[in-house]
Order: sequence, then C-alpha cells, then structure tokens
Amino acid sequence: MDELIEITVTVNGTVHREQVSPRMHVADFLRRGLGLTGTHVGCEQGVCGMCTILLDGDAVKSCLMLAPQLDGREVRTVESLAEGGELAPVQRAFKEAHGLQCGFCTPGFLMTATALKESGRSLDREEIRDELSGVICRCTGYEGIVNAVDRVLNGDAVGVEDER
Ligand code: FES
Ligand code: FES
Repeated sequence: MDELIEITVTVNGTVHREQVSPRMHVADFLRRGLGLTGTHVGCEQGVCGMCTILLDGDAVKSCLMLAPQLDGREVRTVESLAEGGELAPVQRAFKEAHGLQCGFCTPGFLMTATALKESGRSLDREEIRDELSGVICRCTGYEGIVNAVDRVLNGDAVGVEDER
C-alpha cells in the first residue's frame, strides 16, 4: 500500500489538511475525500471536461491531476458558486438561457464559464464555442449553453428570453 502524503489545500474557502494517496486523482479526492460530489467524473482521461474545477483561478480537469499536487493551492468547485441559497450570476444565466440540461455536464460548463468570466475577456460566439470545446455535451445541445455563456460574458444573448 502507498504511503499517504499530507497536503494542505483550500477548497471553497475552507482549509483542509488531509492525508492522501499519491495515486488518487483530484476528482476522487474532492468526491470521496471531501464529499463534494458536484464535480463529476466521466472519461478520467482529460477528454470530457465533466470534472472541471478552478485551481488558483484557472479551469483545469481534475481527473488529470493527483491529489498531492494540491498542496498549498486553492480549489473552487461547483459547490462554491451559490451563496446563501442564491444562485451565482453564471448559474442564473444558464437557467435563463436554457443551458441547464442533463446535469451531468453542467458543473464542467459552469466552472469553465466562471473562469472565462473572471478572466475579463470579451468573446464572440465562435470564440465561446472554442473555449467550451474542452467540455463535451453528449446530447449535442450546445445552443442553450453557448447562449448562457454569451449572456455571462456579454450581457443578454440575442433571442434569449429573460424569465426573471
Ligand atoms: S473525467 Fe476528467 S476530463 Fe473526463
Ligand atoms: S446536457 Fe449534459 S451531456 Fe448534454
């Protein structure tokens, strides 16, 4: 059995000191170690994007990192977005633009959209599609997702009704 490694990591604003297996990937650490099951696991090969989290502000695929690499870092997961029962603006945009679909891919899209928003970049729809290409929607229902991210980055998307 592998010797455990102690790490100190801040996850969603809380500092955790944990003993982790050197072979456990970050998505498993979040889900099984911390009970944060909002980060989903699909391919475990860096292809589907279901496991996307923010690491020191950058969107990364958590199945491609090992838990010991989190030492001294800051992680945000989809659980960090809503505060006090209130949806975050990015979540509201997905709701209003019908970007919330099966739910399995949604955390990956939300965290990717959050990183884009925080980057301060302004992107057109083609660029948004490019940026989202690391997260796969298996039902190919991208229109609502692109509308939602367009709304997040650029304000109201054309043709999207505001349901508030
Ligand atoms: S589970 Fe990480 S990219 Fe698919
Ligand atoms: S809406 Fe999630 S995979 Fe298509």
